[in-house]
Amino acid sequence: MIIAANLKTNLTRHETASYIEEVNRCALASKQDVLVFPAISSLDSFDTKVEVGTQNAYPTQKGAFTGEIGLEQLDEFGIKIILIGHSERRHVLGESQEFIAQKFRYFKSQGFKIVYCVGEPKAKREAGKAEMMEYIAAQYAGIDTEYENLIIAYEPVWAIGTGLTPTLEDIEDIHAELKKKSSAPLLYGGSVKVNNIKDVLSVKNVDGVLVGSAALYAEHFCTMIQYADEIESNN
Ligand code: PGA
Repeated sequence: MIIAANLKTNLTRHETASYIEEVNRCALASKQDVLVFPAISSLDSFDTKVEVGTQNAYPTQKGAFTGEIGLEQLDEFGIKIILIGHSERRHVLGESQEFIAQKFRYFKSQGFKIVYCVGEPKAKREAGKAEMMEYIAAQYAGIDTEYENLIIAYEPVWAIGTGLTPTLEDIEDIHAELKKKSSAPLLYGGSVKVNNIKDVLSVKNVDGVLVGSAALYAEHFCTMIQYADEIESNN
């Protein structure tokens, strides 16, 4: 399974280095694929089993894009994994589907592993399944769903950082729908924690998780990695 941590705008460079070192010890003892997305200022050349990716980058090699980083800055550290379409980039930073698709095309052309996020806001969920699925389908516009290095993360916007999660039946239902769109590994994200990860990972068509706040402590994230091993060995 794929167990991923999105550290968002948390941890200093120094704290991140210790975090990755600690998580790497757990990853080495585990069968899981472990990904960590630290803040951009904490990127480095990590020689670890843990794969380190960037939370964002501009679709360019280099150039006049104030405040952004491009391929040249990622290459410096050998970073080949990127998170694209995260709800905070869509809804807080205002990235359009068109721009997100442009990023996707660029980083695909560079052979990056792409963790591509989709998910509906609360109003769309409340509008009923048909409207919700239509909203999510629009987030696949311009995205190559057959890309070999693609991982998709279903993350309902209303579940991110709120402590709320869909029911396991809802996750199963939506993942079944999304698997029809792409056979890429499909993660669930949104308020995954130590106390619910086993249930979430046991749901059909859940190939892993993308964890935010609950992954900020290496010890907690390590427990989640161990639980994934336990689930797998029970199956
Ligand atoms: P959360 O965030 O685990 O804090 O809900 C998940 C995410 O944003 O990827």
